[in-house]
Formats: sequence, structure tokens, C-alpha cells
Amino acid sequence: MVDIKWEELGFNYIKTPYRYLSVWKDGKWDSGKLTEDNFLKIHEGSPAIHYGQQAFEGLKAYRCKDGSINIFRPDENAKRLQSSADRVRMPQVETAVFIDAVKQVVKANEEYVPPYGTGATLYLRPLLIGVGENIGVSPAKEYIFTIFCMPVGPYFKGGLAPTNFVVSDYDRAAPNGTGAQKVGGNYAASLLPGEEAHGKKFSDCIYLDPATHQKIEEVGSANFFGITKENVFVTPKSPSILPSITKYSLLYLAEHRLGLKAIEGDVLITELANFKEAGACGTAAVISPIGGIQNGDDFHVFYSEKEVGPVTTQLYKELTGIQFGDVEAPTGWIYKV
Ligand code: PLP
Ligand code: COI
Repeated sequence: MVDIKWEELGFNYIKTPYRYLSVWKDGKWDSGKLTEDNFLKIHEGSPAIHYGQQAFEGLKAYRCKDGSINIFRPDENAKRLQSSADRVRMPQVETAVFIDAVKQVVKANEEYVPPYGTGATLYLRPLLIGVGENIGVSPAKEYIFTIFCMPVGPYFKGGLAPTNFVVSDYDRAAPNGTGAQKVGGNYAASLLPGEEAHGKKFSDCIYLDPATHQKIEEVGSANFFGITKENVFVTPKSPSILPSITKYSLLYLAEHRLGLKAIEGDVLITELANFKEAGACGTAAVISPIGGIQNGDDFHVFYSEKEVGPVTTQLYKELTGIQFGDVEAPTGWIYKV
């Protein structure tokens, strides 16, 4: 085992020994291989670095009590990468190739999969970029698909502990833009608002719908959910937010395991008082309880700024229990390495 203080990990880059690399040239992917080089050498004209022709993914591998390794819903990440690739005119990586590459990377870096019980996980970052000689605004003729990984701890400070968020005046995506795809441009647009939020000691921004600025869209790095006073799990429905795999998993678990009504619907920023609990959810964020939301001069506290609400706690236990293999998973959610 490598010498890492697993419990102290945050969400930072750590070099692990192996990454997967595949190149698309002359209309097809090569057979792909593992490599130790953590630098990409690309042409200065590459559309990825000029025009943002790229997409990425995020998924995790989990060490179970018996030492085996679970991967959570990698088929969904593969499908979302295909949707992102299509939107910015890149070639598709087939689901079977994607899952095989994920497994290869986890296996090759197995000693970096954190031990069960530490709360840490192995985060995988698949990345697809348009490369090669180009200068006009047009799709690349060559592409690189890579997956690298690193052990991580909580994305937001404290993990399952409430933190506060602030409503942003900026938009991260346009109504008919690329908000539903995991492309870098959305994240470039979120850097300034994110920095302003951090400067005011908030964990991140809450973005409102770009057309009317009345409904919650999502967090800069995760989706949003709330539990109403009537015990309904609500998460925003919008064409400009990322279709979060965690969010869809929670919709299912809230309904089928917790017995709640669970819907995708509108969360009006003026009606936060309808919600007794709220949280951010995503692969990196897992479930991060939201203590309060600052909206202009108003600060609305949900359950508590210090304690985690009971429904959020139950959802967290169910989701992470499935991911770490302690709770039976719905069919098809877990892939064993
Ligand atoms: N929304 C944004 C903007 C994200 O970056 C992420 C992270 O992937 C999510 C939502 C959550 O998506 P998922 O649950 O698939 O990780
Ligand atoms: C993820 O949860 O996988 C993300 O991509 C969020 C963030 C690190 C951008």
C-alpha cells in the first residue's frame, strides 16, 4: 500500500502511476494503451485549447469491506460523454471501450484505491479533446481520449457537513447552450463567480435559470436538491443543467428506498421557505448538505448551519452504502473491477 493519509485527502491532483490513452486519427480510434506519462504533447493549433472543443467526465471507484472494488454507473458516464462529444462535434467513445478503459486504469493503479472505511475514493477523470493542426473554427481532425485517476476525499469542506452557498448574478450556461453537456467552457464561465463566492466564504455559487433568473438551476460543480416540508424530494428540471448521474440515482432512491415522492420540478428562489432540507449532489460532491443560501440581502437557512437533516442523512447512507457495497444496489448500478 502506498503511504497516503487517506482520511486527510481533499480534492486535489495526485499523480498515480498509469493513465489510459487512445488517439483518433484518419477516422478511427487506435487500440488504446496504458501509459506512465502524465503530460500530453499537443499541436499549438489544437481546437481544444482555442475553441474549447473538449469534454470530460468524473466517476469514482470504491473499495468494499471485502477488499473488492466497485465502480458506480460507468455506463451512464459513457453515455453522457457521447452526448457531450456529439454537441461539440467530436467522435464517440463506445460504452464498452469506455468501461474497459476505466477498469484498466483502476486495476493498474489499484494500490491508490483508498481502503474501506476511510471515506476516500479513487476519482477517475476521462477527458476527450480535439487536437492537431487547425486554426479556423471547425472540428479537429484528430482526438485524444485519456483517463487518469487519483485518490480523493471530500470536495466541499467537511464532506457530510452543512456549508453555505450564494446565488450568483452570472450565468454558467445559456438557455440553448451547452449547460447539459460536460464541456470545459461551462466551467471556464464559472471560475469568476466561483472565486467571488469563495472570497465571501461561501462553498460555491447557486446559478439561476439563465432565461428568467427565478429558478434554481444548479451549483457550479454539482446539482441541487431540496426536501419540502411535505417530504417531497425535488430537484430542478432544466435543459441547461448537467444531467447528474447522482441526481438521477437520488431520485430513484428517494422514491424506492425512502418512500418519498420524488420529482424534477421548479425550485423558485423566492420560495426556499418551502424546503426543510437542501443539498448539492454530484460525483465529487457526493451529497453536500446546504446550510443556508445567500440571495442578495436575504440569507435562508434550511435545516441548520451546523447539523445535517434526517432525510439528507438517510439519502447519504443509502447512496454511499450502495457505492461501497454495504447496501444492495439497484440492478446494473455497480460494476466490479
Ligand atoms: N453539475 C455540474 C456542473 C457538475 O460539474 C457535476 C459533476 O459532475 C454535476 C452536476 C453532478 O453530476 P454527476 O452526479 O454525474 O457527477
Ligand atoms: C464531478 O463531480 O465529477 C465533477 O466533475 C465536479 C467538478 C470537479 C467539476
